[in-house]
Amino acid sequence: MGKFYITTPIYYVNAKPHIGHAYTQIVVDVLARFHKMLGEEVFFLTGTDEHGEKIEEASLAAGFEKGREKEFVDTIVPSFKKVWEELEIEYDDFIRTTDPEHEREVQRFLESMWEKGDIYQGEYDGLYCTPCETYWTQTQASGGDCPECGRPVKELKEKNYFFRMGRYQQWLKEYIENEPEFILPDFRRNEVLGFLKEGLNDLCISRPKERMSWGIELPFDKEYVVYVWFEALINYISGLKKNGHMNMWPADYHVIAKDIIRHHAVFWPIMLKSMDMPLPGTIFAHGWWKMGADKMSKSRGNIVDPLELKDKYGVDPIRYFLIKAVVLGNDGSFSEEAFVTLYNSDLANDLGNLLNRTLTMVDKYFKGISPEADPSKADNAQAQRSRSLLESALNLVPGIKEDYLDEPGILLTEALSRIMLVIGKANKYIEESAPWEFAKKGDTGSIGLIMADLLEVLRNAAVGLYPFIPYSAGQMWSQMGLGDLEEALEKGELVREFEKAGAGERRFPPGVRTEKGDPLFMRIKKEG
Ligand code: MSP
Repeated sequence: MGKFYITTPIYYVNAKPHIGHAYTQIVVDVLARFHKMLGEEVFFLTGTDEHGEKIEEASLAAGFEKGREKEFVDTIVPSFKKVWEELEIEYDDFIRTTDPEHEREVQRFLESMWEKGDIYQGEYDGLYCTPCETYWTQTQASGGDCPECGRPVKELKEKNYFFRMGRYQQWLKEYIENEPEFILPDFRRNEVLGFLKEGLNDLCISRPKERMSWGIELPFDKEYVVYVWFEALINYISGLKKNGHMNMWPADYHVIAKDIIRHHAVFWPIMLKSMDMPLPGTIFAHGWWKMGADKMSKSRGNIVDPLELKDKYGVDPIRYFLIKAVVLGNDGSFSEEAFVTLYNSDLANDLGNLLNRTLTMVDKYFKGISPEADPSKADNAQAQRSRSLLESALNLVPGIKEDYLDEPGILLTEALSRIMLVIGKANKYIEESAPWEFAKKGDTGSIGLIMADLLEVLRNAAVGLYPFIPYSAGQMWSQMGLGDLEEALEKGELVREFEKAGAGERRFPPGVRTEKGDPLFMRIKKEG
């Protein structure tokens, strides 16, 4: 059995989570659930980034005096956990950078790098961006503004500690060139290679306590705390150690957004190399959710609250929309109108309707019991039509597996589209086959075949949809009379779906009592 270790970034606790953060969580949750379905041992780590200047400022602004930052962050962390719970994010651990296990691990990294000579003391004389907590050279911030966030930088001269990144520049460049899956999507990989060509400065990794003290102390100089980014990355290790799971290292995926690719694809591999540790398999950078042309962020005041959206529409439509509306890797612009349109067309009209119509007909024609599929008892033309739909149904699960596992990495949006295409085909199949006409002629053989085909589509679709919309997939499963989907997953039964899929055999058994329930998705009337 393989292992699968996947992480999200750890979020700053100066703002409550918005759908941009929720997006990363959902992407990672989908991947984690999929790999569980394959029977792998999965560890999904998320958490919060709680030190540094930004948090210190937020703490002061919230009325906590200097020195009481921990109390402040303790008030924020539960709101993250609550949102993740409400969005059905099934993480295995929540690491906080104020956890003692994390602090210990950070000090271990620092000590070891110090002993090795990869950290040295020097004088910093240059520019500094407080919101990004990043030092910039005159050339980098030539206009007086931070090249990352555009806000004004300030002059700064102080003694600090530096990490010898320059030493590893050539090694990293070659590593990235030789490992095409290390940074995905491809265009991000090229971006990082371009960045490396400009030359790597050593990284200033300390902050003097007299200026900023909310952080982890340097083990070799008590007057300093460590730069927040330098310690934050180490969460990916401390989160495993805390749980006795170091056997899961290296991570299979670090999923992040494009704005923090430099930290993950440059700083982090070099830190690991300095520690003689293996590197993660893939750093996958997705795009940004925007409002109009701007990135959705607290500082711009244009956020969408996932819980408000959930109260209005439910969890699964949020999960569905975020993955389906934008190809993973690209930017997307959020609007409630687009959300409602996709909800109505894909979820209410296509998916919900197919389940409802199918189970209504199984009730009507077969007293709710799934019929046998026997093409020899069906009308010839119908048997022909059936073959084509059946093929699509049976190819669904192997196709999805390819989307997840094959080059160039994770094709989540494509996997969803693949499923919805077959759902659409099945709806069309009902129209073309017109089972009600066969009913007039008393041709139960043909109706039986049609129903078996539709149930086959729905069963395979439910398997594929589970990671994306777990609750609704579970509803589909139980309404089809197949029992509890989560339980089947726990027992490892879904592993067989992936092993046996593509063998060309129907998997929906005859004689099952279906249990039609409430419609999965009610159509939403557009406002205004
Ligand atoms: N604390 C750092 C990460 C340290 S990881 C070792 C940080 N935190 S953050 O709170 O700013 O959140 C960053 C992550 O939140 C992004 O990488 C991304 O995953 C997610 N997103 C935040 N806003 C987003 C959008 N508007 N759109 C998409 N993702 C967004 O950076």
